[in-house]
Amino acid sequence: MKNILIDCDPGHDDALAIMVAFANPEKFNILGITTVGGNQTLAKVTKNAQNILRFLKADLPLAAGQAGPLVKPLKTAPEAHGESGMDGPYFDGEDYPLCEQNGVGFLYQKIIEAEGKVTLVAIGPLTNIALLIKNYPQVMPAIEKIALMGGGISHGNQTPLAEFNIFVDPDAAEIVFQSGLPIVMAGLDVTEQAEITLTEINRLKNRGKVSNLAFELLSFYNQSGRQFGFIHSPIHDLCTIAYLMAPDIFKGEYADIHVITDNSPARGLTYGDFRRMAPEPKHTLVLKEVDRAAFVKLLMDALAKLDKQVTR
Ligand code: BDR
Ligand code: CA
Repeated sequence: MKNILIDCDPGHDDALAIMVAFANPEKFNILGITTVGGNQTLAKVTKNAQNILRFLKADLPLAAGQAGPLVKPLKTAPEAHGESGMDGPYFDGEDYPLCEQNGVGFLYQKIIEAEGKVTLVAIGPLTNIALLIKNYPQVMPAIEKIALMGGGISHGNQTPLAEFNIFVDPDAAEIVFQSGLPIVMAGLDVTEQAEITLTEINRLKNRGKVSNLAFELLSFYNQSGRQFGFIHSPIHDLCTIAYLMAPDIFKGEYADIHVITDNSPARGLTYGDFRRMAPEPKHTLVLKEVDRAAFVKLLMDALAKLDKQVTR
């Protein structure tokens, strides 16, 4: 069983990553969840995390982290995730409790209190994680690895060259990639293969309470993706959790990854030296392929499990 901390900006695909992790308590000991400004403002993504956790009847500590990037102002993504950051479903009910501690201090505390090493699952801009490394370097030996969604070797989505999470806070991303910690990078190279089709999305409708929530999330997300040319929906963030559960369904290659942080058109670009002669060390496993059918099955199975747990 892996100790994990999930740092996120829900976000439709963030929500699905949380759900799948929560559905598999035999694989994951979720020590807590932190939010970071990204897909929407910190207030909105934190509200979304609260809504998901309450819906799941979860009892996991949640803390809000940094509202914006280290250097630049926050760039949000309403075109992909809507004004709320997680448009589609309607949530009502009580608020889910929020820890008073800032997310960065919360991550530090959870890591030092943990029994055994901790894996960080980072599926938003890397602001909180960079500050954790900078402000509390003593936690580094206790971090097993960072599984992150971000970047892309072949292309971007926010710009031709930069993926959204890295584009939002490239300075933080460079700190994380150059920290020396073992990293698994689920960038666009692999996450755009991790698609769910509209037919598969429609199978979730009224299958159970949690499947239906996933249906509502994915229906919105599929629709918004069409303006960017996607017919099917890449569930980017879920690749991190899927890799930790089933690494054999992925293929990747090791490299040392850097991020362009200047104000050129390449701002936010992630690059690595994949030549055989590339110097060591290569800390980052860059995922390049995924077995799509196995990936979708992992999601479907997790939702079916949650349907049995959450009945009202
Ligand atoms: C990433 O950007 C966000 O919009 C998604 O939640 C994901 O983390 C994909 O580029
Ligand atoms: Ca995200």
